[in-house]
Amino acid sequence: MTAKRVGVIGSGQLGRMMALAGTPLDIEFVFYDEATESPSARLGETIQPSTSNSLESFLASVDVVTYESENTDADLVARINKSKPVYPGENSLRRSQHRLVEKNTFRDLGIKTANFLRVTTKDELIKATKELGLPIVLKTTTMGYDGKGQAVVKTDSDIDSAWEALKGNELIAEAFVNFSRELSIIAVRDIQGNTRTYPLAENDHSDGILRVSQVPVTGLSQAKQKEAESYITTLLDHLGHVGVITLELFDTDSGLIANEMAPRVHNSGHWTIEGTASSQFENHVRAICGMPLGSTQARQSNAAMINIIGKHGDREKVLSIPNAFLHTYSKTERKNRKIGHINLIADSKDEIENAITELTEFINECG
Ligand SMILES: Nc1ncnc2c1ncn2[C@@H]1O[C@H](COP(=O)(O)OP(=O)(O)O)[C@@H](O)[C@H]1O
Ligand SMILES: [Mg+2]
Repeated sequence: MTAKRVGVIGSGQLGRMMALAGTPLDIEFVFYDEATESPSARLGETIQPSTSNSLESFLASVDVVTYESENTDADLVARINKSKPVYPGENSLRRSQHRLVEKNTFRDLGIKTANFLRVTTKDELIKATKELGLPIVLKTTTMGYDGKGQAVVKTDSDIDSAWEALKGNELIAEAFVNFSRELSIIAVRDIQGNTRTYPLAENDHSDGILRVSQVPVTGLSQAKQKEAESYITTLLDHLGHVGVITLELFDTDSGLIANEMAPRVHNSGHWTIEGTASSQFENHVRAICGMPLGSTQARQSNAAMINIIGKHGDREKVLSIPNAFLHTYSKTERKNRKIGHINLIADSKDEIENAITELTEFINECG
């Protein structure tokens, strides 16, 4: 039997886009979040955790539960799972929440990562700089996002400031990876264990925030494509994952290096809304509701996604470009806030590049 009512922990743009994809499949959505004026607000009821019997009401109104963030309370997920299925499961969530656990999982599965060490004291930090070799990236093991909770130690003189900035947290020191570009692969697994992978995307960040994703990745060898697919499928099966998962990768001369995973739909997969037959959102909903997975094939040869960050910008301009698709999240403007994105699809890279040039202001000035 397929689930009909999906409960989402959170009510941001990812939940909104899940609901936008699931509604035509006759799925209803209920959101569990304190905020009521959020991106998902008009797409289903929001139940506020602070109200009485909120969890009971939430669970009574849904068949299956999912979540938007890898920072979702894993104890809450475990509790919910006693009465309703939660996908992705607790194992996927806990392993994504802790960078050491995550990297050890990669290592155990033969998925290449940067060398890393646990750091809890300044002496351990100094030792890590010697053992891993400089530069290193020092990160909090939990709660980091968009480059927050991180410091790069380039020389010995950076050790003090990095330690002062991050001390008091459990830390991971990672060898600095000299990558040529950042890639991501998204895949989905259903309840029966069938998997599908999306084409890899190339991701440009600035100030730790994703700005542009492009598909296909120019000049990517078949070997690397296969390597990425094998990494993510191994991961999905090992975790017993149900739903969408994302793996962030560094592209290097000696192969792909895994950076981190997210047990959820991902910003670098927003292009799939118009770019593929079944988007990451639709396939996530299909997977967790027990429906057959849809095709992950690209509709046209090229696609891109530009994040709208901080300011809404000139919407008329986006709407005037025939192969551009505007997605807004009903969020107010605020510095560095993701408030929408633009998808582009075309039959050539030139067309994509031209559209990106026309929309440069969104990449350069809206932050
Ligand atoms: N070991 C590393 N070597 C080089 N650059 C790194 C390394 N780890 C992270 N970075 C850079 O920092 C960015 C953010 O780090 P990431 O681990 O993805 O954390 P977040 O959870 O904030 O996305 C990455 O996208 C990459 O550009
Ligand atoms: Mg990241």
